[in-house]
Amino acid sequence: MSQQLHELLAARFSPSAFDEAHSVSENDVDVLLEAARWAPSAGNSQPWAFFPVRRDEPDHRRVVKFLAASSARWAPSASLLIVTLAHRYVDGTTWAYSDFADYDLGQSVAHLTLQAHAMGLACRQFRAFDLDGLTAELRPDPAWRIVSMIAIGRSIDEGPVLRERRTRDELRSAPWSGV
Ligand SMILES: Cc1cc2nc3c(=O)[nH]c(=O)nc-3n(C[C@H](O)[C@H](O)[C@H](O)COP(=O)(O)O)c2cc1C
Repeated sequence: MSQQLHELLAARFSPSAFDEAHSVSENDVDVLLEAARWAPSAGNSQPWAFFPVRRDEPDHRRVVKFLAASSARWAPSASLLIVTLAHRYVDGTTWAYSDFADYDLGQSVAHLTLQAHAMGLACRQFRAFDLDGLTAELRPDPAWRIVSMIAIGRSIDEGPVLRERRTRDELRSAPWSGV
């Protein structure tokens, strides 16, 4: 390949050890949300919302108590946890707000993740938490659904252990392989 993968993409990985001595500022949080804010979305619907809690904030405890045993090993030491939400329904109805709500949320999180990386921060997205419990605790509007969390901080992980990807050829051929 004559073009190389950008260093931001090549060096990114999801750590499972964060530096407990590291903190993020309110301004850091603003910049991360700004990155999410400028992501593209279907019809500019912007079907995303975020509940960010820094490790030293009281709301951090409200979120951490719903971590699963697996994520409780590393997520509490991250400098910042962000709960992500998608606008799934038109308010007060069961009609889909957008066919692309979760897709667009994911894209905004991708932008946030790379912005974090550019700031020397690492992210691990995760779903290992008690969704019903956290929903009851945060009580988002019913049109909005919690989707995932992101642990963000300074990585003290030496690097990914086993990290596999499907090949580029598989990406091109998989949907047509049965024809
Ligand atoms: C939507 C989503 C949910 C995830 N859930 C978890 C999780 O519950 N626990 C976990 O340890 N990692 C979780 N991950 C991290 C993935 O396992 C990780 O991104 C994947 O193994 C690829 O590794 P990499 O990010 O280092 O490239 C999740 C990632 C995404 C995008």
